[in-house]
Amino acid sequence: MSVDPFPCNGNGNGNGTEYVEDVSPGSGALPPRARYASSDAPSLSLNGSWRFRLSPTAEAEPFAREGYDAGGWAEIAVPGHWVLQGHGSPVYTNHRYPFPVDPPRVPTENPTGDHLRCFDLPADWPHGDGDGAVLRFDGVESCARVWLNGTELGTFKGSRLAHEFAVGPLLRAAGNVLAVRVHQWSAGSYLEDQDQWWLPGIFRDVTLLHRPADGVRDFFVHASYDHRTGTGTLRVDSDVAGRVTVADLGIDVPAGQPVTVPVRPWSAEVPHLYDGVLATGGERVPLRIGFRTVAVTDGLIEVNGRPVLFKGVNRHEWHPERGRALDLATMRADVLLMKRHNINAVRTSHYPPHPAFLDLCDEYGLWVIDECDLETHGFTELGWRDNPVDDDRWTPALLDRAARTVERDKNHPSVVLWSLGNEAGTGRGLTAMAEWIRARDPARPIHYEGDHDCRDTDVYSRMYAGHAEVERIGRRLDGGPRRRRRLPFVLCEYAHAMGNGPGGLADYQRLFTSYERLQGGFVWEWIDHGIAHPELGFAYGGDFGEELHDGNFVCDGLVLPDRRPSPGLAEYKKVLEPVGITGDGSAGTVRVTNGYDAADLSALAFSWSYQVDGQTLATGALPVPALAPGESADVGLPAPPAGAPDGEAHWLVRAVLAADAPWAGRGHVVAWGQVQVSDRTPPRVPATARLRPDDGAFTLGPGTFDARTGALTAIGGVTVTGLRLDVWRATTDNDEGAAWQHDPRCGPLWRRLGLHRMRHRLDAVETGDHALTVRTRVAPAGRELGLAAVYRWTADGDRLRLAVSVVPEGDWTLPLPRLGIRLGLPAPPSDRVRWFGGGPGEAYPDTKSAALAGRWESTVADLQTPYVRPQENGARIDVRWAELGGLRVEGEPLFLLTARRWTTEQLDAAAHRTDLVPGDTVWVNLDHAQHGIGSQSCGPGPLPHHRLRAEPAEFSFVFSPAPGTA
Ligand code: GAL
Repeated sequence: MSVDPFPCNGNGNGNGTEYVEDVSPGSGALPPRARYASSDAPSLSLNGSWRFRLSPTAEAEPFAREGYDAGGWAEIAVPGHWVLQGHGSPVYTNHRYPFPVDPPRVPTENPTGDHLRCFDLPADWPHGDGDGAVLRFDGVESCARVWLNGTELGTFKGSRLAHEFAVGPLLRAAGNVLAVRVHQWSAGSYLEDQDQWWLPGIFRDVTLLHRPADGVRDFFVHASYDHRTGTGTLRVDSDVAGRVTVADLGIDVPAGQPVTVPVRPWSAEVPHLYDGVLATGGERVPLRIGFRTVAVTDGLIEVNGRPVLFKGVNRHEWHPERGRALDLATMRADVLLMKRHNINAVRTSHYPPHPAFLDLCDEYGLWVIDECDLETHGFTELGWRDNPVDDDRWTPALLDRAARTVERDKNHPSVVLWSLGNEAGTGRGLTAMAEWIRARDPARPIHYEGDHDCRDTDVYSRMYAGHAEVERIGRRLDGGPRRRRRLPFVLCEYAHAMGNGPGGLADYQRLFTSYERLQGGFVWEWIDHGIAHPELGFAYGGDFGEELHDGNFVCDGLVLPDRRPSPGLAEYKKVLEPVGITGDGSAGTVRVTNGYDAADLSALAFSWSYQVDGQTLATGALPVPALAPGESADVGLPAPPAGAPDGEAHWLVRAVLAADAPWAGRGHVVAWGQVQVSDRTPPRVPATARLRPDDGAFTLGPGTFDARTGALTAIGGVTVTGLRLDVWRATTDNDEGAAWQHDPRCGPLWRRLGLHRMRHRLDAVETGDHALTVRTRVAPAGRELGLAAVYRWTADGDRLRLAVSVVPEGDWTLPLPRLGIRLGLPAPPSDRVRWFGGGPGEAYPDTKSAALAGRWESTVADLQTPYVRPQENGARIDVRWAELGGLRVEGEPLFLLTARRWTTEQLDAAAHRTDLVPGDTVWVNLDHAQHGIGSQSCGPGPLPHHRLRAEPAEFSFVFSPAPGTA
């Protein structure tokens, strides 16, 4: 089917509001074209303070005629969303439409924001013969009608797409009045049902562009790379005659003429750009050219002749105060954070980003899947009946969206795949989009996840498939339609980073690197969309009184709303490391493997350090050859330093940037490997101290106990409260899981079982000469199952040892959230915490790749990860010993440490950060084990080997006074 994507490019007319519910993309706008910055044609930013009036319906009072007095209106910042500037409020839904589904109709209550801006042209604005001007809107949600100086320019929909209007004849030197009416809801809203806040407004730039006579209009840079010859072929098609020059390459050819020269290719790892110029009679346009060839060859996505592995994230545009109105500094911060965390790819979920973001991706190097602004997920509630993407009446709007994406972004080397959209079901409209894109740009493969038969796509893409299924796909045992079987595979979304997590990243990465068909994935998602809120910290769905909402499902990113990296990002960085550093410590070598797709290791410097019991005794440089991609070498380590003390020893080998890179400074750690050389000697405490009765109490070494209950009351001078077995954790979003999950979800099942309200029955307090034994049974009301827990205390002079043994009784089918002890200590003046173990950050059994064994120091406050919705967090894993609150505790075996100024119950009950108020007690959990994290908030739960089965267990802790932390 061939459909003209711009069927209604006439002038807009009429005073009604029919255009709001009209399925067409709009009227009056110019055809889409490449985005570029002219060297010589001036432009005028119309960003800034505009007059603003909010009306409850689309039939708002007219305001566009000349002379209208808006003096009494409010002011609003453009770019911006009015709901984040005190007018109305945001609404969050995942996939449900927040209005009755009756396409293309929208509610009568349709908040409508009238925007007015007066401007003069700069004195030097050119007025040549044939000169024109274009008014550009980079993003308006969801539907706009525009007038300049009282004349209507047209209407448009397609929130995250650029729209331009020819305005030359209407412009005046001074006193121009630009009037823009924006409707929150329109037919376009049915195509924009992405999982995010609904945020109306003019949220991207508004610019007036001078268009010189004989200026460039549109152009298409085709810059391919032939890896066999090392040459690039450049052809710049322009719809106005011109010349193309690239000084560094000696290129000077007419537009449209191909030229082949030796070049350095562009890749995300080595993003080499050449500066060029396209010059027409009236204008010079700077070009940033990256030579690269993307192709699906023999079932693999190859760039420049080599398969790529996407180490990606899904990026929504987000700022906690400004919503989707992003400034350049924020966009750059995202790119730098990604590069510094070994991320090499971005899916622009689920719409084309602000154009400046793609400039940054070209410059710093990120592979981009550029996605059209299309999602109709809410139709899943109707069994996909009436889905616009399978209804020809909507096809022009879909083609408009495809064309506006491709035309705007086609000259970016970073864009390697086009994506038709997200979760829009299947249908003829998608096929039409794919056909249009293929014809316009055959040099980029097409992605779309929603059609598992891959009729329109060049890549088999899925979201949230579990490890076992991904492995089957990797082994090519997944069957499926013939076309699909020949395609490469990507997980366009996986590892749902909601709250604590995601778990299981390392297990996925092992699959990606084991099977060539698996070309990586994109974690869902980059940033929590929390809205800065004076009382709540960050607000999420429901905090604005929405009648339909999906709570904190909008907070599922690797960075917190303020872009503070969450522990998930540290984990992802480690898992993605482009250099493998492994060894078993005994051979005196480490194996270094170059895991880059295109770069050798020459940009990196390697170093070693030798550590005993977490303390670094010696360091040095480690010469490593500049291995080519895929190559490995066994690199000799030096002899351990002479006179090193006995203890648990490790080699730590780091790969760092050898020189400043555009995205991080010299010395930035890219990869590390830690190799254990000798084992730890577990603490031994001979039971030499006698148990002594003492005025209703017992003393045993440094320990004091209640004689009746056997409860520990003090260690040395430190008061201890509430020491007991603990199995409960404040459920994480991933414990709770998503309602639609088929697999059992632990959080709700744990609660149903009563694990959050365990009772502790005292069965016996047994005294011996050198030991105190307390027998208990820990169980929830209404259930017959329980845990027999025995605490056995012994001591030598200064050290008190607790051996805990736990035996499950009854029919335990569920895993436990955690297994360990908890105790309360008085909050000391200094809340310093030191430990030798995994660090520096939070880690759980399936999120511990980044935990480096070492000596770390923090504070109780800083141990907390401030997830937007409070939940279990902050554990440090594989701890050998820790010091806090005046105590030192050593574990055998290694343990997990958590310490906080509120109880687990308080943490569990909190809905926002501000619900947590530090109390007078530091609650310390010393866990023998914790259940894995998984990513069941929208994916698989923890893998079987990360589940904490209820089984007999024994573990011990040795306590002693630690003056330094009191
Ligand atoms: C996917 C969807 C995303 C997001 C995610 C869950 O189904 O494509 O937009 O909703 O689930 O957070």
